[in-house]
This record gives sequence, structure tokens and C-alpha cells, in this order.
Amino acid sequence: MLARAPRARPPAAPTGAAPLDCAAVLHLASNTDPDWASRALAHLDEILLDHAHLEKKAAGAAVNLLFRHPDRPVLQVPLSALAREELCHFEQVLGHLARRGVRFAAQRPGRYAGRLHAIARPEPQHHLIDTLLIGAVIEARSCERFGLLAEVLADVDAELARFYASLLASEARHHGEYVRLAESCYAPEAVRARLAGIAAHEAAVLAEGPFQPRLHG
Ligand SMILES: [Fe+2]
Ligand SMILES: [Fe+2]
Repeated sequence: MLARAPRARPPAAPTGAAPLDCAAVLHLASNTDPDWASRALAHLDEILLDHAHLEKKAAGAAVNLLFRHPDRPVLQVPLSALAREELCHFEQVLGHLARRGVRFAAQRPGRYAGRLHAIARPEPQHHLIDTLLIGAVIEARSCERFGLLAEVLADVDAELARFYASLLASEARHHGEYVRLAESCYAPEAVRARLAGIAAHEAAVLAEGPFQPRLHG
């Protein structure tokens, strides 16, 4: 049972972006199980808390790349902007947690991110492409699942449903941005091949365990 906090209204979304056809722009190797959204709905507050942590981690991942690759000018402004946008999403999710009376707190992470990053090669010449493309796949899966949540939430929490629908465009854009940044640092054919390999690994990670009440669980 999650702790209850005083009710407050979330900050307004910065854009009124319309939902996208994610399948047309993402590079995922599998579709989420159709039962996932109804299972997630049964653990909505835990999913929302996980989402808050994910937005913060997404900002941190972009900032980490900035620190690790100061020698890549092409990365600096896009990743800085991406980190700011993810922190804005973090604040919005905190607002929805507060509105629902759920206190923000530490949470045991699911297995997804650790298993996904296990495919990253440690050699310096591979680290950047792998990290960018793992980021791209995480953004793509988030986009797909936000769309599923927006659908099932329509009759449960219309405000939250609108929020998730509004996130589709930004997460799809983040996916494309990570792919574009990889293509600006590596040969496009190498990027496409590695993206397909990481997407296949991500699909296997999702398929390997029982449901966890996490956005990527
Ligand atoms: Fe985000
Ligand atoms: Fe994102």
C-alpha cells in the first residue's frame, strides 16, 4: 500500500500534442501483450510512481552522456534539451501522484533496465552507439505503453488519460532523436543493424519474466 499525500493539481502540460501512430515511427521488435494495460491498471499508483522514477532516470541518462562525451559537439544541445523535457515530465508525473494522493517515494526498480543495458558493449568505440540506441528503444517502448495506458484510463482517470496521450508525441520524438544522434556519430547502416539487435534483445527481456507492476514490467 502506497502512502497518501495531500492532494494537489499537476502542472499543465507544456504542449497539447496529439496522439501519434506509434507503429509508424518506432522500431520495436514486439508488441506489448494486450493484457498488459488491464494488469497495469490494477496497480495504477505503483505504475505512476515507477513512471516518475523513469522520467528522472531518462533525464539522468541524457546528462550522463553529456558528461561522458564532451568531445561530441553534435550531442550537446539535443541531449541538454531532452534532459530538460524529461525533468518537466518528472514534475508533471509528481503532480499526478499528488492529485491522486500518492506520496513520491523510493521504489525497488524492475528488472527491465538492468537486463536491457546488459547488451551494451563496454569498449569505448561501442559505448556511445549502444547507449544511444538503448535509449531509443526505451523511449519507443514508453511511447507504446503510454498509448495503451491512455486508452484504458479514459473511463478511470480522464485527466491522467489525457496526460498519457499528450506524452506520445514527445516520447516518439525522443526515440527519433536518439536514432538521429547515433546516425550523426556512426554510419547509418551500422546504426540500423545495431538498433535491430537491441530491439530484439529488448523484446526478449520483456518476454522472459512474469508481469511486474512497472511501466516496462
Ligand atoms: Fe519523458
Ligand atoms: Fe522521453
